[in-house]
Amino acid sequence: MKNLIINRFAQTFTGEPCIYSSAGRVNLIGEHTDYNGGFVFPGAIDKVIMAAIRPNGTDRINAVALDLGEEATFGLEEEDAPTAGWARYIFGVAREIQKRGGKVGGFDTVFGGNIPLGAGLSSSAALESCFVYALNDLFNDNSIDKFELARIGQSTEHNYCGVNCGIMDQFASIFGQEGKLMRLDCRSMEFEYYPFNPEGYRLVLVDSRVKHELKDSPYNKRRESCERVAAALGIKTLRDADMAMLEAVKGDISAEDYVRARFVIGEKDRVLAVCDALSRGDYETVGAKMYETHQGLSHDYDVSCEELDFLNDIARRCGVTGSRIMGGGFGGCTINLVKNELYDEFVKTAVTEFEKQYGHKPEIYDVVISNGAQKLK
Ligand code: GLA
Repeated sequence: MKNLIINRFAQTFTGEPCIYSSAGRVNLIGEHTDYNGGFVFPGAIDKVIMAAIRPNGTDRINAVALDLGEEATFGLEEEDAPTAGWARYIFGVAREIQKRGGKVGGFDTVFGGNIPLGAGLSSSAALESCFVYALNDLFNDNSIDKFELARIGQSTEHNYCGVNCGIMDQFASIFGQEGKLMRLDCRSMEFEYYPFNPEGYRLVLVDSRVKHELKDSPYNKRRESCERVAAALGIKTLRDADMAMLEAVKGDISAEDYVRARFVIGEKDRVLAVCDALSRGDYETVGAKMYETHQGLSHDYDVSCEELDFLNDIARRCGVTGSRIMGGGFGGCTINLVKNELYDEFVKTAVTEFEKQYGHKPEIYDVVISNGAQKLK
């Protein structure tokens, strides 16, 4: 990938670019908790967005999206906003840096990647993180701190891409380290690295290839439900709620908002239970919690789909230790914690049965927990 990007840069532009990359992410547990001030447990993975970038001394950005075979040129003022979805991420990151008093000049860039799009692996956060990391290095002497880099990516989603997301994906993409998951408290923003080497187990993603596009999905509506319940409780976020408090306002909120909040409150405790279990090496409990999360995401939070529930059922039938929808939902992948000796059988069964049912094969991705945003050259 790196050579393709460098060659295309040399064909299209002049001079020697710097090379940056940032990663997609998995999340072991803690879904839809980030915008509720709860806990998440993600890690960066070995699937990346990579970009060759060189300041060009003008006030224009000339960008090539290698994999899409598309190009865009745009300025840095609000009225110069590009229309192509992928270019809006780059433009948004540049604008958000400027809004915070940072510097951005024109640049030439070619980027590409191997993160499957719409699979729930946060290709968009990886794109934002790659560019925000690069522009901090190239124009700001790395003076913007890493949390602010993650927030710039998140604000790009809010203000330029129509997704009212939490901080998890950008955080994972910026802070990720090889072999380590991170438990982030999204209220205090304190976090801890957790070495993740589940001996005897593998993490595998099964991609339903049902396209997940948060912008047109009811993701923002889920967030609004949570905010309404928090308002009814008189608290800032559902992080500060428990089941007794929820029961007390049950009559004042809609039945739908009630079940949404019920999921979020349960999920907060599940992350902590998984952290405890991990430190004891108790993968059976980790797996059981993953199944509970799937049930909650499917029934209460209603972000699953038939294909993902089907994959979850297959995992359960094959004796897979843990399995659940990963990320925002509405399509994409399940994440599965599988005993080594079950791996081949599970993958074979999942692929065969899924194809028989839906007429196309799911994709299988083995997960290697890897580094996040970095400069390669
Ligand atoms: C998407 C969002 C995240 C998070 C997850 C659900 O990936 O970008 O902020 O809310 O969904 O956990």
